[in-house]
Amino acid sequence: MPGECSNLPMTTLRFRTLLALLAGFAATPLLAQSTYDQVDPMIGTGGEGHTFPGAVAPFGMVQFSPDTDTTCVLRACYSHAAGYRYEDPTIQGFSLTHFSGAGHSDLGDVLMMPVAGDTVPFEPGDAGKPGTGYRSRYDHAAEVARPGYYAVALKDRGVRAELTAGTRIGVARYRPTAGALPMHLLLDLRSSLYNYPGKVLWSSIRLRPDGIVTGCRQTRGWAPDRNLCFAIRFSVPLTGHAFVSTETDVAYKGFQGPGRGSDAVAERAGRALVARFDFGTTDRPIEVTSAISSVDEAGAIANLLSETGDFDAIAARTATAWHAALDVLRIDAPAPMQRSVATALYHSLLAPSVAGDVDGRYRGPDNQVHRANGYTFRSTFSLWDTFRAEHPLLTLVQPATTTRDIVRSLIASREHSPDGILPVWQFQGRETWTMIGYHAAPVIADAYLKGIRGFDADAALAAMVASATYAPYAGLGEYMARGYVPIDREPEAASKTVEYAYDDWTIARLARAMGRADVAATFAKRSENWRNSFDAKTGFIRARKSDGTFRVPFDPTAINYGSDYTEGNAWQYSWFVPQDQASLVRALGGDAATVAKLDAMFDFDTSKLDYSHAEDIAGLIGQYIHGNEPSHHVAYLYNYAGAPWRTQARLTQIVGSQYRATPDGLSGNDDLGQMSAWLVFTALGFYPVTPGSLEYVIGRPFVNRAVLTLPNGRTLTVISDDLDDRHPYVGKVTLNGVPVTRAYLRHDEIMAGGELRFVMQAAPNTTWATRPADRPYSSSSAR
Ligand SMILES: *[C@@H]1O[C@H](CO)[C@@H](O)[C@H](O)[C@H]1NC(C)=O
Repeated sequence: MPGECSNLPMTTLRFRTLLALLAGFAATPLLAQSTYDQVDPMIGTGGEGHTFPGAVAPFGMVQFSPDTDTTCVLRACYSHAAGYRYEDPTIQGFSLTHFSGAGHSDLGDVLMMPVAGDTVPFEPGDAGKPGTGYRSRYDHAAEVARPGYYAVALKDRGVRAELTAGTRIGVARYRPTAGALPMHLLLDLRSSLYNYPGKVLWSSIRLRPDGIVTGCRQTRGWAPDRNLCFAIRFSVPLTGHAFVSTETDVAYKGFQGPGRGSDAVAERAGRALVARFDFGTTDRPIEVTSAISSVDEAGAIANLLSETGDFDAIAARTATAWHAALDVLRIDAPAPMQRSVATALYHSLLAPSVAGDVDGRYRGPDNQVHRANGYTFRSTFSLWDTFRAEHPLLTLVQPATTTRDIVRSLIASREHSPDGILPVWQFQGRETWTMIGYHAAPVIADAYLKGIRGFDADAALAAMVASATYAPYAGLGEYMARGYVPIDREPEAASKTVEYAYDDWTIARLARAMGRADVAATFAKRSENWRNSFDAKTGFIRARKSDGTFRVPFDPTAINYGSDYTEGNAWQYSWFVPQDQASLVRALGGDAATVAKLDAMFDFDTSKLDYSHAEDIAGLIGQYIHGNEPSHHVAYLYNYAGAPWRTQARLTQIVGSQYRATPDGLSGNDDLGQMSAWLVFTALGFYPVTPGSLEYVIGRPFVNRAVLTLPNGRTLTVISDDLDDRHPYVGKVTLNGVPVTRAYLRHDEIMAGGELRFVMQAAPNTTWATRPADRPYSSSSAR
């Protein structure tokens, strides 16, 4: 037997070698390895990434994941925005909702903790004192995380916990690890992420005659007045239960949950509820299936019942869904890069998540219940981040219906918005007003211009215009009156001015495509407004006061909240003219001056600067800050100044320093997929600097081969000849054998599929794609 066994790997190895050889010679590459197998959900769970390791289906409504500490206060919460932190020694429990990589937080709803044994603590204990309360120590060595599946041994609770998730459910399997013991499940409705005092406004729980437990909770957190209901079903009958309120009950009139139900076996309401469920003494695993609904308990029950099967069946179904979603991109690259890119694709397929119930009902920004007809309502819109690369990536790796549903959800949200405008940062249908701009506009325009249909284009354009002309919104009235946002009237005025101007350009683009010349002309004119914030003397985008002067004193390195810029300074924000980088190059004094300024940004000596007060500032290369979004397109801008090889060199520098296939492998918050989408594009050799332009700017690839199966069924094969550390520059590029001598690819070229080949070399090709006619889209020189 041992002999036979040891033979197997040899055979496998020979077979692999043969495959690799075949792949090298075949016209269409054979990429045997599944992308699914390369995903490591632990990447980003430490350091600055703020990702979670738990179980989630593609774009799933439930993100079932461990929380290591929800008892944080103030600044300590930031590091726990995803509930789990790799560095933490204990797990407090498993809750149903999490953001992937957000810089602010909420959620962590319906926290559950299994317990084997006679003692069931009702308090979580002290995160700094492992062994206290119901929290439990665990070892990373006994932890398993893959798409749609998570497992861990809870050492202090005597339970091995496994989690999986369907689109609208989370399923847990809890197995006692020390033989037959009394098994319990604790449900703590007091717990949530960013759980400052007074956050839980009201909660309720009831045990129904059919054994299903339901309840609702109303919280006032990042989202104001958020309502979430749940339904939980156990695989074995309960032998007992206890519903406990840990504070004196107070009446709360605003509660929107259900009133008392006459059919309940037991029920309790209050602000601080804990429940214990008992299953008797057993050595058998117990399965717990949970669902949520932002509508009501009936919605949660319907969601619970909509996905059938036991733990293994759900896990298998979700694994199949992940295989399908991830294997549209097969990659062949050195092992760490392959894991980083595969995981990046995984992280880019988590949001915008499903937020509507199985019957179509959802809660909108007006806090009322609506019904989606013919599409799935989605939310979790981190638009300031995701308009850049995340949404453009979805148009290449997901069926068009995904983006169609996103656009329909945006339009519907606008229709239910008390302010009559598109979402800014919305989750579970509720608006948080976080970050700046009206970046739903580029998402919708990019979708329409790429030919994605199935939504009301007139309503979409109307929604975009409404958002862009809503005077009460963040200095917009002043912006419309003056052509810039004045800093003495509105904070972060420089950033707002340039971001509004870009969004305006996307409205003009959509209007022109729809034959609405009047709207197009108005917004094309507005898209020039970035010039009003450009200071020719210093070469920086700066904030102007209402008297027309630039605000002084001016320090381009200063980063302060509420200052002239949003989460950044003049160095990062002075490059934000994606609609017309050519004019910016001219304004800066031409190609050489632009290249010099870009170099000055990357090579800036920041050793004497302290940005530790700004939470989002991480991943510095000089004044280039990869850990936050304003910098994301900047390395690609050398292409607009006739120096593509400088872009290639900077990308080598960024990818080499900002992404690792380790828990602390993301240099900044993943921001609902944006950091990850950046890597997926960059690894393939191109990036959407200007969503809405229908172009991708060529960088340099980081994969030896990749096969992208496009939504239209065609495949794009990316091949990088001679790619290694000693060959970091692009010598030439061909598309289906034809030389590409310009610095961009068109969307229709990508969608037509075929073979995109990069020939890599040691020295820069300083003549490739350098002529003005070779440069990517700019509105002032539009082809
Ligand atoms: C460099 O680019 C130019 C212009 O596209 C091309 O003609 C030349 O062959 C390239 N050089 C190499 C070594 O690939």
